[in-house]
Amino acid sequence: MFKTVEWRGDAVRLIDQGKLPLEEEYPEFTTYEQVASAIKRMVVRGAPAIGVTAAMGAALAAKNIKTDDKDVFLTEFNLALKTLAETRPTAVNLFWAIERMRGVAAAHSAGSIAAIRQKLEEEALAIYEQDLAINKTMGENGALLFDDGDTALTHCNAGALATAGGYGTALGVIKAVHLSGKKISVFADETRPWLQGARLTTWEMMKEGIPVTLISDNMSGHCMKKGMITKVIVGADRIAANGDAANKIGTYTVAVLARRHNIPFFVAAPMSTIDFNVTTGEDIPIEERNPNEVTHIMGHQQIAPDGVNVFNPAFDVTPNELVTAIITEKGVAYPPFTETLKKMKG
Ligand code: MRU
Repeated sequence: MFKTVEWRGDAVRLIDQGKLPLEEEYPEFTTYEQVASAIKRMVVRGAPAIGVTAAMGAALAAKNIKTDDKDVFLTEFNLALKTLAETRPTAVNLFWAIERMRGVAAAHSAGSIAAIRQKLEEEALAIYEQDLAINKTMGENGALLFDDGDTALTHCNAGALATAGGYGTALGVIKAVHLSGKKISVFADETRPWLQGARLTTWEMMKEGIPVTLISDNMSGHCMKKGMITKVIVGADRIAANGDAANKIGTYTVAVLARRHNIPFFVAAPMSTIDFNVTTGEDIPIEERNPNEVTHIMGHQQIAPDGVNVFNPAFDVTPNELVTAIITEKGVAYPPFTETLKKMKG
């Protein structure tokens, strides 16, 4: 089984998601600047995976700061956290993980630099382990919503590649359904422009032995109309307190289509993806990426004229009224989400 992200003591090792599925490469990153650049360039992507990787990047930064002066150490450490936080704006798991690392440094600031480094390394590993466990529980919670013979449409990649590894979120639910013995098959939206569905979801599903059919993004309405899709399940990068869910661009379109065809639309995400500081999806920052992602196929084949205007938002927000249920490690939340998510948080 592949490893999405791995702590190597003096480096962070990532599976290079820009190269999959044609090449399976595992570059190592030995400085926090390199880790930040890897997150920005989407060598690693997917909200929980970004959070875990940033935590490891922070632990790496702490290891590499060469000073005996604790104030200098803490100042440089906070600078590293700032750099890691400036990589991608939408996935809240990034900021959640960074704040956990900042909290650990603050809580142990009375101790030696060596002790702080040790605690930070332990915290990064705890975030990693917790993500694996959370996704397994989430998968089991979500599997109860699926029936034998379901065909689930998914958008982007919300699998092991988008998390610490193992299960994943939306694909974790599908894996749990599969493991429970129920028959399940998947339709994967290709997910232009970065092709997470075509390149990553199909690769993961084929590795798991789960039947998967690839379609281009503009085929999902047709497939729904033809009765080929019985459920939709996606992940999320940030969920507002009212259940509005930001996810890969195109998710909103799928949600509208699902409602038109009376197909349940599920969002699977860990509690760390819910941003209770954001009241509605209107306040979720949406990352805009390089126009080159739209004018070229994976940076290679140019498909549009030189100089064309491009708009390339990486995410959209699905309003809560289109979401049937939100699956988390704490259970399944139904509307009204402002109340049920708050209750779930405790
Ligand atoms: O731009 P990406 O590939 O990082 O976007 C990822 C997604 O939109 C996923 O669906 C989301 O992070 C959920 S992953 C478990």
